[in-house]
Amino acid sequence: MSFFESVTQLPEDPILHLPIAFAADPRTQKVNLGVGSYRDSNGLPVVLNCVRKAEAELSSKYLNKEYQPIEGNASYLKATNELIFGSDFLKSYAGGLFSAQTIGGTGALRLGGEFLVQETSKTIFVPSPTWPNHKPIFTRSGLKMHSYRYYDERTHQLDFAGLCGDISNMSPGSTIMLHGSCHNPTGIDPTQEQWQELSRLIKHHRIIPFFDIAYQGFIGTLDEDARAIRYFASQGHEMLVAYSYSKSCALYGERMGALTVLAQHEEAARKIGSQIKQIVRSIYSTPPLHGMQVINEIMHAPALKKEWLEELVQMRDRIKEMRRCLIDGLERGNSQKDWSFLKRQNGFFSFCGLNPEQVHRLLKDYGIYMLSNSRINVAGLNKNNMDYVIEALLAVTQS
Ligand SMILES: Cc1ncc(COP(=O)(O)O)c(C=O)c1O
Repeated sequence: MSFFESVTQLPEDPILHLPIAFAADPRTQKVNLGVGSYRDSNGLPVVLNCVRKAEAELSSKYLNKEYQPIEGNASYLKATNELIFGSDFLKSYAGGLFSAQTIGGTGALRLGGEFLVQETSKTIFVPSPTWPNHKPIFTRSGLKMHSYRYYDERTHQLDFAGLCGDISNMSPGSTIMLHGSCHNPTGIDPTQEQWQELSRLIKHHRIIPFFDIAYQGFIGTLDEDARAIRYFASQGHEMLVAYSYSKSCALYGERMGALTVLAQHEEAARKIGSQIKQIVRSIYSTPPLHGMQVINEIMHAPALKKEWLEELVQMRDRIKEMRRCLIDGLERGNSQKDWSFLKRQNGFFSFCGLNPEQVHRLLKDYGIYMLSNSRINVAGLNKNNMDYVIEALLAVTQS
């Protein structure tokens, strides 16, 4: 009898399995709107020019391949914190701050979760709905995970009253996970006034904010998309931020991220750092080199940084244009369904408001892949597949 006899088969990951199923689909007319990776106007993955140039620069430098410090590279972390908090805040900040380079945004969330369970908070609240991976990340960290009201499926709007009501019922010392911008999957974010009210409530109820920011620069400028986090930081919250470069630098497979903790004072941050480093040491020991070096080249060479910002704007603008074309096409289609809610959505994703049967029909009859909750990656749309997707959406929503 095998030692592994009792191992049971789990279902495939609902998101990362989609590209595999898509590649295996023999149909020639098929569209992948599943995984949240940027695609260009021909539906192809992108390597940014600034990344190619940074890599060329690096290859001429003959750098060594030594281990990094456990928390990663200091200038990478400084540049990352400047993107998150802005350099003015960092210059005048009187509290304590600890940062660690992580294995993508996922690694930052998990590291933050492990740290919270070990040191302070046993419960985390996440929005309903949220990125499906939040659940395994936080529950495997040992946190008890609950949802708070976020999206009203009836009105397709933020359920702000429900959200505030749920915050008021959270016990002190709990953690609340907030999407910094470009909420995944709904594409709906609070307004700045709403963020201010949330900050006040969260502080009043003594809850720890844990921001997840994986799409900075995909709604507005980097500064605009960091406004919520910066407001919270300016209000003196002790908080955590999980940052991802996967989308903003199109460095998905390089697994580049960071975890930053803001604490009341420097001594606290030092102690926090010692605990986080011990957790890192026991999981992956030290973070990888290559992506960090690429990002450092980009962030520290003004011409490359300028090019990155321009390429980010191009990605953002293409997504915006695709969303506009999709909405125009659906509205021109004499649909029985009111699609106007899509206009309020922003960033990488749109939440199409379809039921599971409609999502299934899109897959079965049209070869259109999306998440089962009808989240689509708007970047997967292009001029070649737009009409086909519109026609399919109109057909499956015709009663
Ligand atoms: C909301 C959210 N947070 C975090 C991540 C993790 O990003 P990474 O690929 O850098 O681990 C993603 C990726 O899709 C995401 O959508």
